Formats: sequence, structure tokens, C-alpha cells
Amino acid sequence: MDVNELPIGVFDSGLGGLTAVRELKEILPHENIVYFGDTGRLPYGTRSAETIIKYACDDMNFLLTNSVKAVLIACGTVSSTALGVLKSSFDIPIFGVVEPASAEAVRLTEKGKIAVLATPSTISAKAFDKAIAAINPAFSVMGVGCPMFVPLVENGYIGEDCNITKEIVNEYLSKLEDFSPDVIILGCTHYPLIKNIISKAAGEKFGKVRIVDSGRASAHALKNFLHESGKAKADGPGVTRYFVSDEPHNFMRTASLFLGEQVENISKIDVEKYLYKK
Ligand code: DGL
Repeated sequence: MDVNELPIGVFDSGLGGLTAVRELKEILPHENIVYFGDTGRLPYGTRSAETIIKYACDDMNFLLTNSVKAVLIACGTVSSTALGVLKSSFDIPIFGVVEPASAEAVRLTEKGKIAVLATPSTISAKAFDKAIAAINPAFSVMGVGCPMFVPLVENGYIGEDCNITKEIVNEYLSKLEDFSPDVIILGCTHYPLIKNIISKAAGEKFGKVRIVDSGRASAHALKNFLHESGKAKADGPGVTRYFVSDEPHNFMRTASLFLGEQVENISKIDVEKYLYKK
């Protein structure tokens, strides 16, 4: 089969990677996508690097059984912790969210003060700090781990009028009060599902703040690669197939809400069957 016709693989621990899928559908409408959300082993963002690497390798093994032509790690935690290992273990183009989101933040900041909201593992890996320093070492970066956001999103607490989510957003943003950023990177791909709440609360606290959606930024990096390498699919409708590792009902409900279309073609798989062997 012509490589252009092969699907793109996208994975995350759960719903977060849909932020990249939504953008991919918009900017690469002809591409077929195979999405895997590891809902049975979520969350990733509070686990050790060793476990995250192991899970990510299983996820890659599963995607490769679908003959994908490239993989987008639509997960800040895996991108921060395992990108190097995955690139050296799998012979396929692999993209993460850290570099594209950091580059966008650097483009947008006027004060040189960039905050990163992400999972505890991403914050301790300091991957965004390093990526931003590599572009401009004069910029200051402050990271805040937000472990409550993923369970809120996975359980569907994403409405703009959701008081629990608003309260927790305010709690995390209060840690940035002295720093007062003008750009906030949503370094976990789950967080753009509550972007409106974060953006409104940040505006009230810090004035003009630009929000960077890491999933969205990574979709653009993948698009550039497919076009530059001549691997993009040029016509025909794109079909997205969804796979999860636990009962699909919750995923289907929130995914449909977020993507603004009925998401039905979801299959449950046993990801442990695709175990990574050292
Ligand atoms: N969406 C993921 C991320 O971008 C993982 C969240 C989690 O499972 O903790 O970090």
C-alpha cells in the first residue's frame, strides 16, 4: 500500500489526545487516524518514569499493528518522559507535544514569563523548561503540577459552569500569583478540554494571558512533517477509529461532547497483549 494512504497513530492515557485529533481533523481532513486512549491504566501523570516508558512502549506496539505511518504522542507526560526512548526503540517518525508547544509559547510571550500547567511527572521532568531555554535562555518558566485536572476531565466535569472545576483551577492558578505569566502552556493534553475555564480565571488574575494548547500545537508539527516529506494523504474522507483499554462508555460521552460529533466506532482492546519486551 502507498505510504500516504496509511493512517496516523495517536495515543494518550485517555481523552486528552483528542485535543490533537480535533485539530488534525481540521488541518488534515483526508488523513485516517487510529487513536488509542489507555483508559484502563490512566492516569499516567502521577507514575514513575519507568512505568510511563513501559506503558508508552505497549501503546506504540499496539499502534504499529495498525500499520501507522507516523505516531503523534498526544500526551505531555509521555512526551516529557519517554520521547527519547521511543525514538530510539521504534523505527517510525514520532512526534511529541513539548517542542511545538514551547516554540509557540516563545513566539507569543511579550514579558518572557511562561507558565506550564501539567501533570506532576511532566513538571518534575522539566522538559518544557529545557525546550524553552534551548530557544531563549533569558525567558523565565514556572511549572505547576495539576493532578486534579485529569480526573475532572475524565469524569466529564468540563462544562464552563462547573463550580468544582472552577474552584480547582483557581487553586492551581493562585500558585502563579507572584510570577504573573503572560503565556500559559497547557502542557497536559487533557487540560484544553477545560481551556475556557482556565483562560477566564487566568485573565481575571493576570490580565492579558495567551494560552497554548499543547495537543493542538503538536498536530501542526505533524502536518508540517507530512507535507514536507510527501507523506500526506491528498484526497478522500478521513476516518478515525478509536481504541480504549477500558469500558468505552465514559470515553464515548465526553469525546462526543468535545469533538462535537457522535463518536461511536470505539473498540476495547487488551493493551497488555502488546507488551513491550526489552
Ligand atoms: N494527557 C496526558 C498528558 O498530556 C496524561 C494525563 C495523565 O494520564 O495523567 O500528560
